[in-house]
Amino acid sequence: MENREQWGSRVGFILAAIGSAIGLGNIWRFPYVAYENGGGAFLIPYFFALLTAGIPILILEFGVGRSKRGSAPLSFSRLSKRFEWLGWFQTFLSFGIITFYSVVIAWAINYTIFSFNLKWGDDTESYFFGEYLNATAPSGLNLGGIQWQIFIPLIIVWALLFFTISRGIKKGIEKLSLIFMPILLVLMVIIVLRAITLPGALDGLNHLFTPDFAHILPSFLGGDNPDWDQVWIAAYGQIFFSLSIAFAIMITYSSYLPKEKDVNNSAFITAFSNSGFSFLAAIGVFAALGFMANQSGSDVADVVSGGLGLAFVAFPTIISEFPAFNAFFGVLFFMTLVIAGFTSAISIVEVVVSSITDKLKVSRTKATLWICIIGFLISMIFITGTGLYFFDTLDHFINSFGIAISGFLELILLGWFIKVATIREENNLVSDFKIGYWWDIMIKIVTPIMLGYMIILNIISESTGLYGGLPLPVILIFGWGALLIMLIVAVIMSNLQWKDNQEERIPKTKSVTK
Ligand code: PHE
Repeated sequence: MENREQWGSRVGFILAAIGSAIGLGNIWRFPYVAYENGGGAFLIPYFFALLTAGIPILILEFGVGRSKRGSAPLSFSRLSKRFEWLGWFQTFLSFGIITFYSVVIAWAINYTIFSFNLKWGDDTESYFFGEYLNATAPSGLNLGGIQWQIFIPLIIVWALLFFTISRGIKKGIEKLSLIFMPILLVLMVIIVLRAITLPGALDGLNHLFTPDFAHILPSFLGGDNPDWDQVWIAAYGQIFFSLSIAFAIMITYSSYLPKEKDVNNSAFITAFSNSGFSFLAAIGVFAALGFMANQSGSDVADVVSGGLGLAFVAFPTIISEFPAFNAFFGVLFFMTLVIAGFTSAISIVEVVVSSITDKLKVSRTKATLWICIIGFLISMIFITGTGLYFFDTLDHFINSFGIAISGFLELILLGWFIKVATIREENNLVSDFKIGYWWDIMIKIVTPIMLGYMIILNIISESTGLYGGLPLPVILIFGWGALLIMLIVAVIMSNLQWKDNQEERIPKTKSVTK
């Protein structure tokens, strides 16, 4: 039987994994989440989540992919036929993310060009939501029309996704990562160096780092925040999204590893590189926010933002206020978003491509083409006037339920229904260093408890009212409905036969030079 594709080098694999991990989440999510949840003190729950969930699950997923050598559905099915549907569910969660993630990259491309003449003007907020997005609250069937200005970069994003992924693992994804990950780091370092030398930067950094321990602790330990448990849950949410775990991605990427390659060390390298980049981004972002407050004579606390507001409202303002080279730094910042986003987007589409090519035995090119066309058509919904609201709903539901449910199920199925210690032992045989029994405890007990608790808390908060005050049909379609459809199609797919009974044997690997 034919061999599975393989990475050309270990560096290539690690850079691709880091490329998936480092994305918009590091730049616009981490700084804000950290600030809101106790500043410097947030590092405690953050590292707790990293060590109990992030790294152990990376090791688990790398191990499963390496030894089972298939896309997530195929790898799960090789562990036990009963697990296959979870692989599909994770694949579809990823697909859900790419439909709006691609749109954000398209915005960033537009804004890279806008940087040249600071097209957003003085009122960046009304420019972004008004003139640019034409954001209109959903009512009835009126979608508010397509924003053609976004249509063009959106096509470009999907075309580039197709172009890269259809070239395959080594010639497409690996090559892209080897070129763009170093560039990304250089761009970020330049941004940070400029940001920390702006007036007011120190003030911004003080706001970010001043630890508020009372915010993260229960009252009997001296805490003053009744919702202190939410802080810990936020840390888990951030780690899962940021490391792209429980999304089938890391299983897929590691399935292209030669069998004798290390996984434990690669997991640590991936996780710490990702965190390092997050800290770097946080420093850049808060130094810039400090400068913004300094310019307008307001307090840093009044200008802090995250997500879209940070990238497309606050940053354009900051760039316009720069003392010199405004256009240059504008291009630099938005290019950083584009590259960070694109290398993550690649990993998401690859997950779907590999699941479909494994199951249906169609060619890579054909599968990629169809997935990109369908993904593109769905993402068009998000470039309509009402798109922003749909986007926000889908994002919210995937983040508060998709991740937690998928991670919880993965740990319960793999932790309790098969001998998970075998995966650790196999990993230890090929890895630079060995992992101890603590790993089993994290996988079987600690993290499932945290995720279970996260699901309960999120259900409670959802039951207090419709998310964002949006109309019920929107919540049903882009929230619960989307998750339900993913689950149903996952079960259907897992009931289809594998071509050539692939689930019954594992293809050989050929040894490659370092
Ligand atoms: N990890 C990416 C980020 O931080 C996002 C991502 C999530 C990518 C899930 C793939 C899957 O932005």
